[in-house]
Amino acid sequence: MTDQPTPTMDALRHRAEDLRAQLRDHSHRYYVLGTPIISDAEFDALFDELDALEKAYPELITPDSPTQRVGSDLDERLPKITHPAPMLSLGKAYTADEIRAWRARIDKLLDTSARLAYVVEPKFDGLTVALTYTAGQLTLGATRGDGYTGDDVTANVRTIRSVPVKIPPSGQVVPPSPLVVRGEVVIHKDDFKAFQESMRAQGETRFINPRNTASGALKQLDPAITAARPLTFYAFGIVDAPDGTTPRTQWETLTLLRALGFRVGEDIRRFDHLDALIAYVEAFEGQRHSLPYEIDGLVIKIDDFATYNALGVVGKNPRGAVAYKFPPEVVTTRLISVSVSVGRTGVLTPNAELEPVFVSGATIRQATLNNFEDVARKDVRLGDRVQIKRAGEVIPFVIGPLVEARSGAEMPITPPTVCPFCQSPVAHTEGEVAYYCSNPRCPERVAREIEYFASKGGLDIEGLAEKGIRQLLEKGLIQDEADLFRLTPEQLAELEGYADLKIQNLMTSLAAAKTRPLESVLMALGISGVGTTVAKLLVKHFPSLDALMTATTDDLQTIGGIGPSIAGGVVAWFQDAEHRDKIARLREAGVTMTANTPAAMRSEALTGLTFVLTGTLPTMTRDEAQALIEANGGKVSGSVSKKTSYVVAGENVGSKREKAEALGITILDEAGLKALIP
Ligand code: IVH
Repeated sequence: MTDQPTPTMDALRHRAEDLRAQLRDHSHRYYVLGTPIISDAEFDALFDELDALEKAYPELITPDSPTQRVGSDLDERLPKITHPAPMLSLGKAYTADEIRAWRARIDKLLDTSARLAYVVEPKFDGLTVALTYTAGQLTLGATRGDGYTGDDVTANVRTIRSVPVKIPPSGQVVPPSPLVVRGEVVIHKDDFKAFQESMRAQGETRFINPRNTASGALKQLDPAITAARPLTFYAFGIVDAPDGTTPRTQWETLTLLRALGFRVGEDIRRFDHLDALIAYVEAFEGQRHSLPYEIDGLVIKIDDFATYNALGVVGKNPRGAVAYKFPPEVVTTRLISVSVSVGRTGVLTPNAELEPVFVSGATIRQATLNNFEDVARKDVRLGDRVQIKRAGEVIPFVIGPLVEARSGAEMPITPPTVCPFCQSPVAHTEGEVAYYCSNPRCPERVAREIEYFASKGGLDIEGLAEKGIRQLLEKGLIQDEADLFRLTPEQLAELEGYADLKIQNLMTSLAAAKTRPLESVLMALGISGVGTTVAKLLVKHFPSLDALMTATTDDLQTIGGIGPSIAGGVVAWFQDAEHRDKIARLREAGVTMTANTPAAMRSEALTGLTFVLTGTLPTMTRDEAQALIEANGGKVSGSVSKKTSYVVAGENVGSKREKAEALGITILDEAGLKALIP
């Protein structure tokens, strides 16, 4: 740890003022303008810093500090209403320990270790609203506002299909009256995508996330605009009726809400034990993306309302509930520059070089911009503040620019006219998305091709990845895939970073890669349209590469699951002289390219026997015969000698048969070979 000088009181006061100013500015942008320029998580981080500072030094608190009031999203253009009960917010927990600490505080206050049940619900990332029903009719819809006063958005919420205008829709349930239902207005992820696409088609690029779009939609003065946005309402609570006719637990509340015709979130669970609850919420993070709407965590509530109410409120947070927050996945940062990479097919991909930013547990400096059409469509410019998403296994990508944050100095991004690696002209067909490097021998393309060939999805050459491949290319030891199999231990020993063990391991993986089944070879070749499924289908119908190479598009289309475009792609690939040459070189280098022998055809029956194959066999190719022999423990050699056990001869045999006869070696036909195997 480095010694940090203790900050002076002046410096702390300064920092607190600075944080307040930032928070005020961001609140205004978020709540009033509807166009925030930082993410919620970043806002929370600023808020938490100020809150911690003020807790440590209460003399820094000012009455107008953002920490001293519930955040307000009031909009001066809309009429105001007063909430019958204040709309509070939730304390947060980020870890299992913080959940336990929450429970421990409750135990202290209750002065009993009574069993408590909990309800866990999704924490919707949308806009909170309160709906009032009088005699079963929707009479008021209001935003949360500052928690005490909200905006009257009745006409707008009426346009939301999942907001019932009359409850119950049918049946006998008689709702309390008046009834105040609370919930969240969200936009489903797929609805948002479709909406965003249609808006972009009209040149509107403002809509970059569901949450802000939902919020903006609700605050329209013209309900027709709200109606055109795909909003969905999820109910999560009922305000206690003074006459005691409302349910006594959260679980019953959700059941009643459903019966009254409201949507409630999926995955709502009740727990009697904290450990089970914690295991559930921790595991839930992995599932968050499978929900139809965005959530930023889960809400944990004490089920029993009597206990919940008895616990009271601290600051603006009820003690009986807590938000378990997932790490943020969306952050904003600045786009410094754009670098361009070239893939194995020659496609140019723009990458955003970013001001480093911490998201989902890692600092990122780069994010993909997908393609130049996307860049143009989203109107991303150099110098923009951009939103970045890093979620699960997905590569971080640029969601879009924050147009409101522009200074005017931002510069448009245009596709390059020459390849950044080989300076060949860039090719682009009008109406197509991709820009290509026009040079099939572009060194970058070749490196990527070989990398793909050696990767797990291809021949899976263990111990050989991008760095090693680039080193081999640079030293001139390889020029293409086939050269990999000609590498010698002596050559590798000359390279930096290759110790004996590493050399040995690489030689072993190369030898193993040579005998991978045909379907892996097909995938490794990078034929467009040929992934795992198609490769398997092709091999099932054409167990040898020779057969596949001579197949026509008609032949291929007789295979269920292969349509004209894949068939055409495969045929064209094999017609290309360079590709045929590549296959010939791989073969020469010893890559077997035969179909995998099913387990049922394996045995040790031929162990110790050496075979020589000659001529054309009636039902199988030489490759297949070799695979069959090897799968049953035998060896195949290229020439007849005294060590040869059998010669397997088909039609059009030549000198090998004569030599076998001269040496007195038994000659078998295909049926004879098969007879040796169980
Ligand atoms: S219960 C004291 N349940 O989260 C407030 N709130 O930070 C208790 N939210 O603005 C509210 N999903 O709108 C509750 N299933 C859920 C929720 C939820 C999202 C929002 C709520 C409030 C914020 C609290």
